Amino acid sequence: MRVKPQAPTRVRRAPAEHKTATRVLTEHHEVIRGLLGKLKETPPSEPHRRRALTDELFDELRMHELIEEEIFYPAMRDVTTGIAAAWSEHRHLSDQLAALVRADPRSERFDRELGVLHDVLESHARLDEEQEMFPEVERFAGEERLVEVGDRLRARLESLRSSRRARAILRLQRTLLRRTAGLTTGRRAGRARRRAR
Ligand SMILES: [Fe+2]
Ligand SMILES: [Fe+2]
Repeated sequence: MRVKPQAPTRVRRAPAEHKTATRVLTEHHEVIRGLLGKLKETPPSEPHRRRALTDELFDELRMHELIEEEIFYPAMRDVTTGIAAAWSEHRHLSDQLAALVRADPRSERFDRELGVLHDVLESHARLDEEQEMFPEVERFAGEERLVEVGDRLRARLESLRSSRRARAILRLQRTLLRRTAGLTTGRRAGRARRRAR
């Protein structure tokens, strides 16, 4: 009996899920908020966990700023007026993130810096982006363009996360911040001493 050759089974691939740029960024805001929340719940008696979470938060927030500055803000320049303010808010965020990394995770100062970072982040990510800029670009940029930019954002974020070079740079930035923390404190203490004389 001859067996009739069967047509090869066609493997059906699930269609790649496309997301708009604003959805990609809002979801990433949630990742960052999640890390911040975990940090708030971790007591000073667990300094190693606090430090590991701070490192993770630093990396995710820096990558977030990078993909917005490289891709999202330039692509949306003509549909929103909020880009210049967003750039300066990123500088403020980066400064506050640096203050947190420099703080001793067992200290009260760490909790203060974390509280300030939370406020600065929500002011930028929730009020200025999610509630103002994102609805504006969704209204004027069009679905197709938002999805195309969303794909680029996701690809860049993935490539940064898996890049050994990018990881090494972030690690170096954290190390340098912590190394200069003592120097800054020393200089400040020196200035305070001179003023007191
Ligand atoms: Fe931003
Ligand atoms: Fe953002």
